[in-house]
Amino acid sequence: MLDLTDRHARRFLRVLSRRARLYTEMITTGALLFGDADRFLRFDPAEHPVALQLGGSEPADLARCARLAADAGYDEINLNVGCPSDRVQSGRFGACLMAEPARVADGVAAMRAVCDIPVTVKTRIGIDRDESAERLHTLVEATSAAGCDTFIVHARNAWLDGLSPKENREIPPLRYGVVHQLKRDRPDLTIIVNGGIRTLDECRDHLLAVDGVMLGREAYYNPWLMAGVDEALYGDPAPVESRADAVRQFMPYVAAEVAAGTPLTAMTRHMLALMLGLPGARAWRRTLSEDARAPGAGVDLLESALVRLEEARAAIVPRAA
Ligand SMILES: Cc1cc2nc3c(=O)[nH]c(=O)nc-3n(C[C@H](O)[C@H](O)[C@H](O)COP(=O)(O)O)c2cc1C
Repeated sequence: MLDLTDRHARRFLRVLSRRARLYTEMITTGALLFGDADRFLRFDPAEHPVALQLGGSEPADLARCARLAADAGYDEINLNVGCPSDRVQSGRFGACLMAEPARVADGVAAMRAVCDIPVTVKTRIGIDRDESAERLHTLVEATSAAGCDTFIVHARNAWLDGLSPKENREIPPLRYGVVHQLKRDRPDLTIIVNGGIRTLDECRDHLLAVDGVMLGREAYYNPWLMAGVDEALYGDPAPVESRADAVRQFMPYVAAEVAAGTPLTAMTRHMLALMLGLPGARAWRRTLSEDARAPGAGVDLLESALVRLEEARAAIVPRAA
C-alpha cells in the first residue's frame, strides 16, 4: 500500500504468517526505469512468497520492469488496474485502464514473454457509475487470453470523477457477488477477492466462493489478525505464540537493519498497531513512536517497550490478590 507499507512492513508481517503472500506497494514503471531501481526492488529473502506490483501502461516498459522483478527474485508480478488516484490517471495507469482492456492484455503478453514468473492483475469490479460486470468480464477475457490466470478483484467500482483515493476505498459500495460470480463464470481462473474484509471468519466465508482473499488495511492496522492466518486458513501451526513472541522474533532483523544504518523508526512504525485492543497499548505506541526517534535508539527499545506495556497493563488491570 502506497505511503504505508515497504519492505520492513512486509518483513514484519512475515513473522506473523509464513503462508500469506505479500505484495509490494505499487511501483511505477517510471520509478523503476528512471529512479533508484535497487531501492525499489530490494526485499529480504524471508519475505517469500512476495509479489512486486507494477503500475504502468506501456507494454515495452512493463516488459523491462518484469524482467527486473524476475531477476531480483520476486515470485509474481502484479499489474495494478485498480488504483484510482489522479496522479495515476494522468499517467494512464491504474483503474482507468479498465477502459482499455486491449492495452492491458498487450502489457500482460509483453511481460509474460520476458519472464517465467506468474503475471497477475489487480482490478476493480467496474469504473464510475456503471454497475454492470461487463467491463470486468471484458478485461478478464482479454488478459486471460494474454496469459494471466490470477485476478485480485477489489469488489468496488472506482469512481474516477471526483472522489479522493481514500473515498474510493470507502464510498463505492462493496459488491462481493460480482467477484463470486466471476469465479463461477471462469472456474479455470484463480480469483482472489479484496475489499473491506476484516476477520478470518469472513475470509473463510469468501473461500467457499473464491480461491483467495487479499487483506489490505486490516493487515496493516490490526496486524495481530495475521498471526491467526496460517492455522485458520492453511491448517499449519501458528508461527508465533504471543505478540511479545512476535516482537522478539522480529528483533534480529531490526538489529541487523539498525546496524546497517536504517533508522529504528523505519521498522517500529509498522509495529505500532501490534498491541491494538490490549490494555497498555498506548504505552507501547508512545515508546515506539517517541523514544525510537532518540539518537542512538536501538533494538533494545523493543524490549523496553514490552516492559512498559506490561507495567501499563498491570496498572490498568490490577492483578488478583
Ligand atoms: C494507504 C493505502 C495505499 C494503497 N496503495 C495501494 C497500492 O499501492 N496498490 C494497490 O493495489 N492497492 C493499494 N491500496 C488499496 C488496497 O490494496 C486495497 O485494495 C483496498 O484498501 C481495499 O482492501 P482493504 O479493505 O482490505 O483495505 C491502498 C490502500 C491504502 C489504504
